[in-house]
Amino acid sequence: MKRHIRLAVLLLFLLSSFLLPTPPTLSQRAPNVEQRVNALLAQMTLEEKLGQLQQLDGEGNGNFRPEHPDLVRKGLLGSTLGVRGAQRTNQLQRVAMTESRLKIPVLFGFDVIHGYRTIFPIPLAEASSFDPSLAERSAAVAAQEANNVGLRWTFAPMVDIARDPRWGRITEGAGEDPFLGAAFARARVRGFQGDNYGAPDKVLACAKHWVAYGDAEGGRDYDTTDLSENTLREIYFPPFKAAVDAGVGTLMSSFNAINGVPASANAFTLTKVLRQEWKFDGFVVSDYTSVRELINHGIAANEEDAAAAALNAGVDMEMVSRSYNMFGPKLLQQKRLSQATIDEAVRRILRIKFRLGLFDRPYTEEAREPNALLRPESIRLAREIAGRSMVLLKNDRETLPLNKNLSSIAVIGPLADERRAPLGWWAGDGKEENTVTPLAGIKAKVSAQTKVVYAKGCEIQGDSTAGFQEAVNLAKASDVAVVFVGESHEWAGEAASRSTLELPGRQMELVQAIQATGKPTIVVLVNGRPLSIGWIVNNVPSILESWMGGSESGNAIADILFGDVNPGAKLPVTYPRTVGQVPIYYNHMNTGRPPEAENRYTSKYIDSPWTPLFPFGYGLSYTTFKISNLQLSAPRIAANGKLTVSVEVENTGKRAGDEVVQLYIRDLVATMTRPVKELKGFQRVSLQPGEKRRVEFALSHEHLGFWNREMRYVVEPGEFRVMVGANSVDTIEAKFEVTN
Ligand code: BGC
Repeated sequence: MKRHIRLAVLLLFLLSSFLLPTPPTLSQRAPNVEQRVNALLAQMTLEEKLGQLQQLDGEGNGNFRPEHPDLVRKGLLGSTLGVRGAQRTNQLQRVAMTESRLKIPVLFGFDVIHGYRTIFPIPLAEASSFDPSLAERSAAVAAQEANNVGLRWTFAPMVDIARDPRWGRITEGAGEDPFLGAAFARARVRGFQGDNYGAPDKVLACAKHWVAYGDAEGGRDYDTTDLSENTLREIYFPPFKAAVDAGVGTLMSSFNAINGVPASANAFTLTKVLRQEWKFDGFVVSDYTSVRELINHGIAANEEDAAAAALNAGVDMEMVSRSYNMFGPKLLQQKRLSQATIDEAVRRILRIKFRLGLFDRPYTEEAREPNALLRPESIRLAREIAGRSMVLLKNDRETLPLNKNLSSIAVIGPLADERRAPLGWWAGDGKEENTVTPLAGIKAKVSAQTKVVYAKGCEIQGDSTAGFQEAVNLAKASDVAVVFVGESHEWAGEAASRSTLELPGRQMELVQAIQATGKPTIVVLVNGRPLSIGWIVNNVPSILESWMGGSESGNAIADILFGDVNPGAKLPVTYPRTVGQVPIYYNHMNTGRPPEAENRYTSKYIDSPWTPLFPFGYGLSYTTFKISNLQLSAPRIAANGKLTVSVEVENTGKRAGDEVVQLYIRDLVATMTRPVKELKGFQRVSLQPGEKRRVEFALSHEHLGFWNREMRYVVEPGEFRVMVGANSVDTIEAKFEVTN
């Protein structure tokens, strides 16, 4: 009997050593993250440390490269870019967790910008909604889908302010305004990361591109920037600050130089502002080979110099180029890099890996993958957000909405049945077969009796007009023509700068040919940037800016065209008349000779109006609104006081709809020139016909100040104008005073 018990105990012991998890390693046992980081750091060789600073890209299809497993096994690769799929990431992770000496998990990153498989509207479109909660919800779906395919890190949100529509990457951000940009930055970080980016449906976010990347000279991607510290602090920094305050775990250093110092070797932005002023404790990853590119910038003679410049300035992880790894040991020996600098970079990366829970849950459950993508509720959300992001630019004679019972509709244009463009440049792993085109959306919407005919007319960029006649014939034979024109996905996004803002190819002539038929013509734009469409605005009764609306774009367009959704979005960026007006943005300085004066010698053009085609904040609805009765809680406040501003907004039309009430201020006299208008509040409100509501905004210290000549943030006493309206031009106003 005793022998039996002894045997059973022995058996139980043996069994338990197989079934129970292996005892925690030293790093996992440490009670909190900082201790775990330090304990791990103490065990690392120099090569292993430099390995944590290295990120390499996978193959286009999501596979890791043949060299990756061996690098991971040796502790020489801390992170990958683009390796995805639960199985593949697990396979590489298994090497890290079972075959490497210190078992430090790999961090898998990817550009999940506006969706992973369910693709949401481009960020510029989402910003048009003036409803950051939508961006939070879309980012949450993107995070959930991404996490399911093994990704733990997205290189988003892109929070670059863009005042130049020639720059293709304007498509990726929230437009030209720092206040709106900050609101969307905050929302996207929250959506991706939630309260805990280690949760199984969240990912670590990366605010990029730090910084001023959107200010590229001539709108040419990657080009240099030269701008004052005031402009940096007031225009380009705020969305990043908002992301940091929202807890973003990482930032990406940009390609451009700022006032002569490349952003990826810029101690002012990377260390002074980010670490010392903002107390950011996550890590900074370089942009793609931007460390090695310091050689091209001419501030490094070779990769050795480049590594020293970037790491010493504060770039912790190097994307794709390998200068840190190759030259770290030598630089250390030469005392051009200190051990403390290397350790600090490693510490920041490990800290995030621990916070992500990667050491405790390094793998992704493979069974989840297939049913986690394109969930019905995600698709519904994509449609809802797209509908709330499209801007009605013109609607004369109530041409829109269309009747679902029309007898015939001609759907015309190269973007009417195009599947790739609506997904935008950064389409994650979105698939064309999951895109609803406008043609499909319209067909699904109309009555069984309505005949929907389609002609492409021309290519997006081609030179042929051979298809015009067919398109014209169809338009002539139909009740109405809806023409879809714009840009291909390749003309939006990275390395897609343009020198004109015209519709590419022969598309403008196609619109002209259709309009000449005399049929009611509606133009729907599918594009990633503002375009110069003066002729269309002057000649076509209805124009809808659909942007690049994502997987559900076609359904959302149909929802709007036929009135199931009443458009309520507004432009987050100024629409120029011609490219020659660029840069043109609403929050410009006044100059000594403002253009409004009827006088030749003022700041304007001799061959074109100085005003934009459409101003910032502009957009129509199928109903009408009246904003009135502006009230202030006090005529004056102290610099640290608070002012409540309110207006009444009323739906004066016949349909339920949304108005975006916008509040702007102007500091009338200050020790620095101040913008003629600055957005400091917005609210999107839904109102039934005849409904009236009072909308309130709070103004305080954070809204009223600026960076002065001594580079201190100050609120100066004096008079301010406050303007409230439905866009940045049509406002009602009052004045208040700030006292000492
Ligand atoms: C882009 C980044 C992107 C990175 C990785 C770069 O070319 O500028 O925005 O995250 O590639 O794909």
